[in-house]
Amino acid sequence: MCGISGIVGSADVTKRLYSCMLNLEYRGYDSCGMAVLADGQIDVRKNIGRVAEVFEKERFAELSGTIGIAHSRWATHGNPTKANSHPHTSCDGRIAVVHNGIIGNYQPLKDELIAAGHKFTSETDTEVLAHLLEHNYKACGNFERSVREAMERMEGTYAFAALSADHPDTFFCGRNRSPLIIGIGKDANFIGSDIVAFIEYTKKVAYLNDNEYAIVSKDGFEIKNASTGKPQARAIDTVAWDAEQAKKGGYPHFLLKEIYEQPNALREALEIDEKKIEAVADIMNEADRTYLIGCGTTFYAALLAQYYFKEFAGVYAPAVSSDEFPNLCGVDERTAVLAISQSGETFDTLEALRYAKRHGAKTIAIVNALGSSMTREVDFVIMQGAGPEKSVLSTKAMTSQITVLTRIALELSKRRGALPKTELNEISDGLLELGTIVRSVLDEQPGFIRRIANRVGHFNKWLYIGRSYHLPAALEAALKLKEVTYIPAEGMAGGFMKHGPISLVDEEMAVVVLMPPPENEALHRSTFNSVSEMRSRGGKMIGIHFDPWESVFDEQIVLPKVHKALAPIPQLVVGQLLAYFMAILLKRDPDNPRGLAKSVTVE
Ligand code: F6R
Repeated sequence: MCGISGIVGSADVTKRLYSCMLNLEYRGYDSCGMAVLADGQIDVRKNIGRVAEVFEKERFAELSGTIGIAHSRWATHGNPTKANSHPHTSCDGRIAVVHNGIIGNYQPLKDELIAAGHKFTSETDTEVLAHLLEHNYKACGNFERSVREAMERMEGTYAFAALSADHPDTFFCGRNRSPLIIGIGKDANFIGSDIVAFIEYTKKVAYLNDNEYAIVSKDGFEIKNASTGKPQARAIDTVAWDAEQAKKGGYPHFLLKEIYEQPNALREALEIDEKKIEAVADIMNEADRTYLIGCGTTFYAALLAQYYFKEFAGVYAPAVSSDEFPNLCGVDERTAVLAISQSGETFDTLEALRYAKRHGAKTIAIVNALGSSMTREVDFVIMQGAGPEKSVLSTKAMTSQITVLTRIALELSKRRGALPKTELNEISDGLLELGTIVRSVLDEQPGFIRRIANRVGHFNKWLYIGRSYHLPAALEAALKLKEVTYIPAEGMAGGFMKHGPISLVDEEMAVVVLMPPPENEALHRSTFNSVSEMRSRGGKMIGIHFDPWESVFDEQIVLPKVHKALAPIPQLVVGQLLAYFMAILLKRDPDNPRGLAKSVTVE
């Protein structure tokens, strides 16, 4: 949830650390801090607020040195306060640590350290690490051994970096189930919770695995196993992303930039090697059952794919929210579990995959973030190649995931002989045209959608209605609106409304209807019935539809023709734009909604 970075080099590190912090702010932004070591002293500056604010307030620019660590926080243990911000220090101030994740057994460790005389100044689990390192170091006089011993004792999911005033040329870092990547630069070496932290300085990376620590100096790094202390060989990869891709590229917000990047993301998804798609279709074909898992937006991607697998391939592949997966679903060697994750770091999805693995299931993941934990834990991975997604709201990653899943469903259909070739070809052609359709929505609709947002922006209750394929899109569009505007918004199946929720509808409710194209006759008719029911109760009816002759809505967005099964995808794009313009209207921060973080790496 939080973002860690660190640099050791020959030049002053403060400016670069600041930029790393800004690049990682998407992971957490309630407070931040930096520790720089110079002349045998560690100077720590930290406070609550956004990185740029704290940089000014705490005069980070005064810090100077060639080695430092930094952190942007998303509070888990302890409120967002200055005292709880990272870095945390040992009693003597000669050790500073930053940490991401949760040290599960921090309370007994803290009790033990307090009993040994350590004074704590925060409510965080992280501070335990600073004192534990100090405690170990005082006992053995060897900092590396202290790090190893600390890792042996800490339970939970964590990644950390530690500075010791006695070690002016190296910092230490380690991980267990939280991301940490080493960047190998020309005149400096880096660490980051994500490659985007340091991508403007280097594209050469080495990945730390679970239960490993690294000693990083300006001339190199050494990775060791925390249990044995044995050096671990590690290849250096070069990542394809560039710094520019990770920046805003002229858009006012990452959210808008990423919405506009969708045609490219879709193209990339279509260009993923056919063999990879076939391999997943083979796994699914051989398994007795495949579960599709994800959280939030990726759960809705899974839900839409569930319809596609049924419709295109005749395969029931239930979509299950990762957090409930172990509670609900039995798995064995005959089961496949296909996870979907932008970050590849979502705790609930990783845990669900680990549960599946323990029971012998075959695990697959569709992931966007390079080098993330999921890419290395599953049996088979498909990289989406959608490029960095920095806005907290997932947009391009989702439509790209749906494209990949549709390709897999079509491939599985071939193995099962589920659809006639002509129908398969029609859907494949529809998929190929999708980028152009999304591009035309992005070219033509935003002004229109913005004006609608201005007219309906005063509504405080929103419903999004869809049936069949359009239901997951309605759920996702409602999620987009609520997470970025904080307005209560529900996605609902059209057919469910009359079983209770319709009592909510009155003149104060905005009802967005995701209509199927008219050629999907039965579905069109049943959705239309839902519209009539809600219209008669006074709801402000907003239609996202494909019929230029339609006149039943108070407000409408008419989309270009698209294959009927793929119609939810341009509707999702409209939902994203509506949420964006509503956020602008209501003066919300589109990239960093309150209380959210980009990757949810905690339970
Ligand atoms: C919503 C959103 C979240 C994520 C969810 C899973 O806009 O971004 O609902 O989709 O937390 O995250 P990943 O895809 O990183 O596993």
